[in-house]
Amino acid sequence: MTINNQQYQIQGIPMLDIAKEFGTPVYVYDGQKILDQVESLKSAFSSANLKIKYATKALSNINILKLMKKAGTGVDAVSIEEVHLCLHVGYAPSEIMFTPNCVAFEEIQEAVGLGVMINIDNIPMLEHFGTHYGNTVPVCIRLNPHILAGGNAKISVGHIDSKFGISILQVKHVLKIVEAHTLNVIGLHIHTGSDILDADVFLKGAEILFDAAREFRDLKFLDFGGGFKVGYKEGDITTDMQDVGKKVSAAFKAFCTEYGRELEIWFEPGKFLVSECGYLLVHANVVKSTPASTFIGVDTGLNHLIRPMMYDAYHGVVNISKLDGPERVYTIVGYICETDTIAADRKIKEVKEGDILAIKNAGAYGFSMASNYNSRLRPAEVLVLDGKAHLIRKRETFEDILRHQVDLGI
Ligand code: LLP
Repeated sequence: MTINNQQYQIQGIPMLDIAKEFGTPVYVYDGQKILDQVESLKSAFSSANLKIKYATKALSNINILKLMKKAGTGVDAVSIEEVHLCLHVGYAPSEIMFTPNCVAFEEIQEAVGLGVMINIDNIPMLEHFGTHYGNTVPVCIRLNPHILAGGNAKISVGHIDSKFGISILQVKHVLKIVEAHTLNVIGLHIHTGSDILDADVFLKGAEILFDAAREFRDLKFLDFGGGFKVGYKEGDITTDMQDVGKKVSAAFKAFCTEYGRELEIWFEPGKFLVSECGYLLVHANVVKSTPASTFIGVDTGLNHLIRPMMYDAYHGVVNISKLDGPERVYTIVGYICETDTIAADRKIKEVKEGDILAIKNAGAYGFSMASNYNSRLRPAEVLVLDGKAHLIRKRETFEDILRHQVDLGI
């Protein structure tokens, strides 16, 4: 988002024009920003054999997946539906990593049938996998590194109390299963959490993964998951990709030399690739003063962007209808019958009814976590690519609310 000719723009297109053409609320994504993020990750790891597996769950519109494919990334899918989406847009099964958690074995069998890489996150599934496939299907194992890191408790998933992965303390047990079934383990995986700033956390994860990897003879890749921290607040410190790239690549190379084989290094970023590309454009329905606060009520809420309510996440808000004039302090709230505060006590350009606000960092875990709560329609999505704004998802209609309901006629 840049300011040009007194207008907020994306790739030269005034954002107010986008709001006018497609209506609000609308998710808008800057395709160029996504491509730039992919390039910056590649350049940070240019000395290593890097494979990017974009975390589909962050933003799963088929056009975003196609853009990722064009940019040369693979994908990480966490449900069989995401696997189907990735196949639908033309990803080869070999480019898809399937990292489910607590799914039924039938879902894993379906994924095996589709030919994607399977990442197993618990011991009972590893046993089933061994019994069914022996050494006929290569497999990756998700380990829990017991590192507590991440932006908040809900998105810190690599600690000992987390439901994810097989504890590193259980590696001996894993090895027994591997031996008993002659499993062909070609990858090991960890994902520590989301919003991780510190290169040292990735290094610590790497060391833990290397320790485990020493026990396996046929590895082809090590997967470090996602979790790079992007900027949400003005002045936020973010993961220094060059620093992480340099440190982790050096440690990785040393390990490969010791291991005697050139392994691939995999990362599965979601936020890093798509958070900052996205804006949720919303309409100020009402400016309401109470003895305590001045609220701006907008045409969205926790049904469209749940991050502020679920994680106390900070999202920048800009009044894109107003570049000049005074600023005022507002609390921006949604139209849902819940306390759905999007941003509290924010100083932004004075808002009047009808102004359009842009909620920032709406690319990752925005639309993909949206719902129909309060029987509200989910918004449209627009992708700006090569200087043009394209509708990539139609706004829902009332028919969508009724679509799968069965009327008993009573
Ligand atoms: N790989 C695995 C196995 C994951 O579980 C995740 C995220 C990622 C990669 C990507 O992490 P990222 O690079 O996006 O931090 N809804 C939350 C984030 C949940 C992340 C879940 N797993 C939020 O909006 O903050």
